[in-house]
Amino acid sequence: MKHKSLYLIAFLLIASILFVYNAKNYLPKSLTFDVKKEFEPFCFPQLENIVKKPLKYLGQGMQSIAFISSDGEYVVKFFLKKKPKANWLAKMLYLKPGSIRYDILARYNKAYKDLKQESALVAVHLCSSTQPIPSCTLLDKYDNEYQVDLCRASFIIQKRGIPLNKIYPSLNEEERLNIANKIKALLKNIASKGYKNMSSHFNTENYALVNDEPIIIDLGNVVFCKEIKQNPSKEIDKMLCYFEQWNTK
Ligand SMILES: Nc1ncnc2c1ncn2[C@@H]1O[C@H](COP(=O)(O)OP(=O)(O)OP(=O)(O)O)[C@@H](O)[C@H]1O
Ligand SMILES: [Mg+2]
Repeated sequence: MKHKSLYLIAFLLIASILFVYNAKNYLPKSLTFDVKKEFEPFCFPQLENIVKKPLKYLGQGMQSIAFISSDGEYVVKFFLKKKPKANWLAKMLYLKPGSIRYDILARYNKAYKDLKQESALVAVHLCSSTQPIPSCTLLDKYDNEYQVDLCRASFIIQKRGIPLNKIYPSLNEEERLNIANKIKALLKNIASKGYKNMSSHFNTENYALVNDEPIIIDLGNVVFCKEIKQNPSKEIDKMLCYFEQWNTK
């Protein structure tokens, strides 16, 4: 009986140590660092100002986690590693780190060249660099603070938009019609440049308005295809159809 209680206490002690250790290390361990591949060089002199104050958690998807600058103007997005395929203990202890999503980094890199206006991307830093980039402080959704060495991190900077799913319901009929026309033009434009959207529906969470102009905020699902650039009509029709399906719901 005495032994059983001792085992139970030891188990609870270890479990709570693991829990605290994991909670403290969760964010930095899940982000992408030290990518060696060559990508576009980083150029964004305003970064120094943006990172003077902590960046606050804004949102998270399957591929990335977004933080907002204190002036509310910019979003700094870091790339999440894939979840490791390992047993629960290895996962808990982060013995086996998740793998880097090189495909997503490459998509942002390509989109930065071709879709700057459509995505309001202002800078990409996708591989580690020796450039003197300041560190930044991130505040996660529980207000835990982390220091991140931006020289080693893969991240992008984008203008902050108001997500379409939040703003659209509050618009009147005329405003909706106006925005809907602009979204259709955006979708046509992206497809005409040769980009295929891999989503199987119009995902409002991935679009936003910046100064009343729609942008695509999530470039993780858009892939450049030569064939689509040569003949974009099918892709345009598909995206317009997805949009109408959502818009007439
Ligand atoms: N530029 C932005 N302006 C406003 N909110 C943003 C911006 N970028 C990201 N967000 C918020 O962060 C969330 C996650 O960003 P994003 O969609 O890029 O991540 P993801 O992991 O690629 O998503 P998914 O799971 O759809 O692949 C968005 O749904 C949105 O709420
Ligand atoms: Mg998304």
